[in-house]
Order: sequence, then structure tokens, then C-alpha cells
Amino acid sequence: MRYRHTIFSALLLALSSTAYAQRLSESSFRPGEVWNDTQGKAINAHGGGFLLYKGTYYWYGEHKTEGEAGNYAQVGVSCYSSRDLYNWKNEGIALPVSKDESSDITKGCILERPKVIYNAKTRKFVMWFHLELKGKGYVSARTGIAVADKPTGPFRYIRSTRSTPGSYPVNMLDLHKGPHGEFKNGVHPDSVNLIGRDLEEGQMARDMQLFVDDDGKAYHICASEENSTLHIAELTEDYTDFTGKYVRAFVNRYMEAPALFKKDGLYYFMGSDCTGWNPNAARSAVAPSIWGPWRELGNPCEGDDKDLTFQSQSTYILPVSGKKNTFIYMGDRWNPKNAIDGRYIWLPIEFEGDRFVIRWHDKWSLDSK
Ligand code: DGJ
Repeated sequence: MRYRHTIFSALLLALSSTAYAQRLSESSFRPGEVWNDTQGKAINAHGGGFLLYKGTYYWYGEHKTEGEAGNYAQVGVSCYSSRDLYNWKNEGIALPVSKDESSDITKGCILERPKVIYNAKTRKFVMWFHLELKGKGYVSARTGIAVADKPTGPFRYIRSTRSTPGSYPVNMLDLHKGPHGEFKNGVHPDSVNLIGRDLEEGQMARDMQLFVDDDGKAYHICASEENSTLHIAELTEDYTDFTGKYVRAFVNRYMEAPALFKKDGLYYFMGSDCTGWNPNAARSAVAPSIWGPWRELGNPCEGDDKDLTFQSQSTYILPVSGKKNTFIYMGDRWNPKNAIDGRYIWLPIEFEGDRFVIRWHDKWSLDSK
């Protein structure tokens, strides 16, 4: 009798844990809701970057903590993995902040928007991120580099730098290139002088993105010149440095949150206006080459809340492997008062004529598209 009772309870337990496991197994995206990882804990990877490596997606993001202190890097860069984009396993902290006060990435610095790309030649995973040195607000405007042998890390911090030190952009007129950006011939936009001002130290690098083209060349895209203009810069073959070749794009358009993707040989761009943590209307653009010329296509969002990008700001646009012309808009709904509670807004990208469009869905899946 007692034996039968034990078997019965074991059966009940097995049944209920299967039900539990099924409940945890997601098959749709619910933008704006709390997204749990496979252990039932809220995913903590803000300003994320994504990498597909050997059939597994890796999600890198800012590990945030509670309250306003969570806007500063207290822990480091998180990493999650998934094979289906719905269910994410916590792989831990891929790049921890340092306890050493003299390190650029010491605890309390600002470390934002980490992005990781894989270099097939060196077989290294290369992470770049926006870095602001501790205690200096957003004036440092640097980009940081770290390298790992495995997608989950640990990443080894290499260095931080301004963007493209010592080089002028290729799309700048010679007459604008005075020593230290001297004004010549009288009339120049203010921003031209910023290139000269920052020439030796390197250009300002705030909100950033990485993009790897079909030919394996990688690019670093960042908000520069006091956020007024984006810089698109080529990386060296090993992806750990700048070659010095770069262009200014969207001059004086004050864009943040750059995200890029390529479809049918065209380069598409999405970004935001500059309004701190508050959402604003997104911008989009298309170009025949990564170097431009970029043609603006306006706000890609449609429907209620389109002028606030559904209360989010772009962080990445992911091409879905094995599904032709399928891309996911990935954005952050920031919560600067309680940074850890920022939410993820992922929505399908639709194509209409020569532009792309994003519409709200409470719940959606790749198969329903
Ligand atoms: C907007 C940027 O996109 C974020 O990454 C962050 O830097 C905030 N500004 C800070 O206000």
C-alpha cells in the first residue's frame, strides 16, 4: 500500500514538473512584458547585441541593477543563449566590471550597448561597447574592446579608445581639413570644427553598433561630434581596431541608437533622436553602400505610439537564420528610475515599397508572420 502511494506521488510530481517545464517553454514574443530566462528569472541584458554562432543565438547586454544606481555598470555584460529566440538560458557575466579602481571598466563606470562579432580568421569573439569613464558623466565618449575564445566568454578587456584617432573622414572636403580643424575660407558648419578639435585624441564615440558585411568586413558605427553626426568606420581584419577609413553620416541630424541590416544588397538603418532615456520618433534610411549616400526614409513605425517608437529605442535589428527576409526590430523600453526593470520590445520588420515598417503586436511569433 505504502509502495503504491510512493509510486503515485512520484507520478504526480513528474506530471506537474512536465507541466511546469512546458509553461516555461515560450513560443511567442510579448513585447513589454517581463521576459524570463529558462530558470524563471527576468532576463537582464539591456542595450543588447546579438550573435548567431553555430546555430545558437547569443544575446549580450548591460546587466542592470535596481534603482538609479543601475544606470551605472555595477556587474558587467550579461550573456544568454537560445536556439529558437524565445527561450533564453543565462550564460552568466561574459565581461565583468573590474574591482581595480584604475581600470577603465571599474565598477561604477558607464558601459552601454555591448555588441559581439565573430572573427573567422582569428577565431576570436570580439566585443565593442560604449564606455564612459567612472565619475565623468558622458564626456569621455569612448569605445571599449574585449576578446574571448568562446561566445559565452570570459571576455578579456583589451583597451578603450576614441574612434579613428588621427584620421579625417573620407567624405570631408580638403578645404575643411585645417590643422586642428581651423576654420578656413570663412563659412563652415560648427561640426566640421569638432573633427579637427578631436583629430589627435580621436572622435567621440557614444551610442554604437557593429555591422559585419557579407565579405567579412566589419564596421563600427557611433554617435560622434557631440552626438550631432554618426561616424561609420571600417575595422581592421581582426576586428580589434580601426583602419582609419570612415565617413560622416546624417550630418547634424543628432541620431542615437544606430542599428543596421542588409537586404537584397541594400543597407538599411534605424536610429533615434537624442532625448536621453525618453523615447522619441525613430528614423530610418537606406543606402546602396555602407559608406552611403544614405537616404532618409522617415519614421518606420506605424500605429498608436508610433512617434514614441512604442516607448522604446532601437538596439539591434536581427536577421532570422533560415527565414528569408525575416528581421526582428529589437528595442529597449528604458526605466532609468529602476534600471533593472527596463523591458524588451521586439517586433517584426515588414517591407513596403522601398521602406521598412514596424507595427505593434501584443504577442507574436515568427511562424505567425
Ligand atoms: C540614450 C542612449 O541611447 C542610451 O544608450 C543612454 O546612453 C542614454 N541616452 C543615457 O541618457
